[in-house]
Amino acid sequence: MIVPRGAVLALRAVSLAALAWPLALGIAPLAAATDATTAAAAASAEAHAELWPQRESKLSPDAEIERRIDALIAAMSIEQKVGQIIQADIASVTPDDVHRYHLGSVLNGGNSDPGNRYNAPARDWLAAADAFYAASMKPNGKLPRIPIIWGSDAVHGHNNVVGATLFPHNIGLGAARNPELVRKIGEATAIEMRVTGLDWTFAPTLAVVRDDRWGRTYEGFGESPEIATSYAAPLIEGLQGKVGDPDWLRGPHIIATAKHFLGDGGTHAGKDQGDAQMAEASLRDLFSPPYLPALDAGVQSVMVSFSSWNGVKMHGNRSLLTDVVKDRWNFDGFLVGDWNGHGQVEGCSATDCAASAVAGLDMYMAPDSWKTLWRTTLAHAKDGTLPMARLDDAVRRILRVKLRAGLFEAGKPSARPYGGRFELLGSAEHRALARQAVRESLVLLKNAGSVLPLKPGAKILVAGDGADNLTKQTGGWTLSWQGTGTKRSDFPNAQSIWEGIDEQVRAAGGTATLSPDGSFASKPDVAIVVFGEEPYAEFQGDRPDVGFDDAKALALLRKLKAAGIPTVSVFLSGRAMWVNPFLNASDAFVAAWLPGSEGGGVADMLFGKADFRGKLPYSWPKSSDQTAVNIGDAGYDPLFAYGFGLTLADKGDLAPLPEMRASVAAADPGVLFAAGKPGAGRRLLIGPPGALSTNPGPDLIEVRAADRIAQEDSVRLRWTGAGPAVAAIVMGEAEDLSRQSNGELALEIELRVDTPPTADVSLVMGCGAQCAGGFPLAPMLTAAAKTGKWTRIAVPLSCFARAGVDMTRVETPLSLATAGKLEIVMSSAKIVSPTGPVIQCK
Ligand code: BGC
Ligand code: BGC
Repeated sequence: MIVPRGAVLALRAVSLAALAWPLALGIAPLAAATDATTAAAAASAEAHAELWPQRESKLSPDAEIERRIDALIAAMSIEQKVGQIIQADIASVTPDDVHRYHLGSVLNGGNSDPGNRYNAPARDWLAAADAFYAASMKPNGKLPRIPIIWGSDAVHGHNNVVGATLFPHNIGLGAARNPELVRKIGEATAIEMRVTGLDWTFAPTLAVVRDDRWGRTYEGFGESPEIATSYAAPLIEGLQGKVGDPDWLRGPHIIATAKHFLGDGGTHAGKDQGDAQMAEASLRDLFSPPYLPALDAGVQSVMVSFSSWNGVKMHGNRSLLTDVVKDRWNFDGFLVGDWNGHGQVEGCSATDCAASAVAGLDMYMAPDSWKTLWRTTLAHAKDGTLPMARLDDAVRRILRVKLRAGLFEAGKPSARPYGGRFELLGSAEHRALARQAVRESLVLLKNAGSVLPLKPGAKILVAGDGADNLTKQTGGWTLSWQGTGTKRSDFPNAQSIWEGIDEQVRAAGGTATLSPDGSFASKPDVAIVVFGEEPYAEFQGDRPDVGFDDAKALALLRKLKAAGIPTVSVFLSGRAMWVNPFLNASDAFVAAWLPGSEGGGVADMLFGKADFRGKLPYSWPKSSDQTAVNIGDAGYDPLFAYGFGLTLADKGDLAPLPEMRASVAAADPGVLFAAGKPGAGRRLLIGPPGALSTNPGPDLIEVRAADRIAQEDSVRLRWTGAGPAVAAIVMGEAEDLSRQSNGELALEIELRVDTPPTADVSLVMGCGAQCAGGFPLAPMLTAAAKTGKWTRIAVPLSCFARAGVDMTRVETPLSLATAGKLEIVMSSAKIVSPTGPVIQCK
């Protein structure tokens, strides 16, 4: 958790009726979110069998293991069985809970860390692993003792842990087109996980990404099944070892996960957790090929996708989960769910969903919902809603993997091979491998007049906000979920791109100068400009188009070019993006993706230590609205085709490109209010309850522009006290924020209180007629008024859900209401991963 959990305010949620006075926001009913999807047409059994032919398993059943499972299941209580199929997040579960509820697994979500410290030292991870293990093995009457497994998103190295080697994200590995390289990366990642006592990685992502607006584009190896299919087996063997070898799943190896099954990268408009709308044959042909080698290589878990196929959530899709994966493909490991993904199945909630298990899910990922889910699932198992045979089968599969991994005999994590060998985190050998991966992943898109390779003996200016910026260089899923909020000291075993360049230039007797803004005292021979996307993960990275905007970086490049300095752009991004203006302003342009901890690898390429061999894993767009250009399309017309990539020997000139950006609403959906105005598609309305408008006159409440940092970047709201009045941000149409309220996203408001409240104040979220929930805010505002300072108020969305807001149809994400006097200046209101402490509601 990057948010300190210390001195935070606690608020009691209040329902609509209990608020200061009833709030009938009276906003005209808005169009309900359309659910244009149709249920999947049930193909006849025969057609289905033809579509998904029988696959022979490469894993022969082990009679001894199956006997042990039989004995265990016979001795387990029903409570223990239910616990076995539930996975809780370490931010919401203690070792005692694990013992008491017999939980089969824990995970650390991207923002969950031992002691709630995003940069907790590696030894704390190992200690936590020991504690959870000990709890699972503590005697419990006559019940068998079953070791727990801890899963983590080690998706580009063991990226949740300080000091680990950070490999390029999958997009870069896809560019490398080197299956043996990913095998070695799997081996190194597994060892680093073992050092900290973890058993299981939620990787590899085998998504085939069809629309680069998706915030997870960089987690995929490419846009066609080809690369993921060639990587699946070697990567899984690197992580797990080889089936049949004595160290399979143990020793230096861990358990791997193929994810997210199925069609995660094929959702409509690249929407995270969206809907893949296509015929079953297309679904199979585009997205399933990488799973077959993954199963052949013995992958032991498959994670079910959050997304839907033709309107049906995968977490409830029995035909694909059970009929295809288990029956036709003969998969005998287990299916794990995604983060409360079961809760999105029709008729389910995060805390109650037998339907998912019935459809074939074997382990619920129930981060914060596990306890109630345990109770409801137990009830379902007792009354047969969840048939005992299905429960036993799920347990059997999980036990099978645990037995194969030798966990019953392995002892505590710190006593297993590699446990506590902290010197292996970011070891020289692993970092050299990561550096090789960086070298192989860079794709050269332009090299006019052969400006590359550079001479390290030259006078080099290194500019751009990405040059000395490990946060940007490592991207999402790095120490925090979104990859944000980290600082240089969080990366003890890493080198920024600038540091890598500087090292080589010094060694060659040249001079390199770091100047993020590009200013210089004496004219350099050449300038390297490093810029690109800010880190993101999952849905927070979804974009309305693929146009890259960075006015500063562009101005910088143009200024250098105008001064007659050759420019080399190093572009950091999680997707292929429209960068025409930047290409025009650069002599050389390198797509460096999200290279990870080894900036030296970038320097190697700029100085010609190796020739470029990276080839585009995603087609490069010709316009900012060419979001889904994929090899094989009819009329395929990208700027650079899939597979493109120059070598130093190629003629790398590029004719000037058109710079007109296609206009697509470039809205950040999380912004409710910023830069002095409501976010795109939102309105700020004020007035008496039931009659809000943009400008009702100043009797009850007044709105004026105000300045915080820049002119008119804020709004001043003054309640006169003449009667109840509301200021509200209203959506263009009701929005489904249930996904956002699932994790730790919060409504974060920045404000200053100039006149303290004289009566109760309510902070309310509205979801249509007679649907709202919120919190009394007067005490906090009174306290803020005393300081006179800018104050940040962050209320987790889950608090609003608990206060009775129907998060599937939020119409008014923020409203402030009082009948008294109050004057505030608000500079921003956003739905974000909180940037500081959050209010606790319970
Ligand atoms: C992601 C998964 C990840 C899980 C646990 C989910 O939100 O979709 O890829 O493994 O969280 O962090
Ligand atoms: C977790 C992620 C998870 C996400 C889902 C975050 O708090 O850290 O792992 O994928 O929530 O909303």
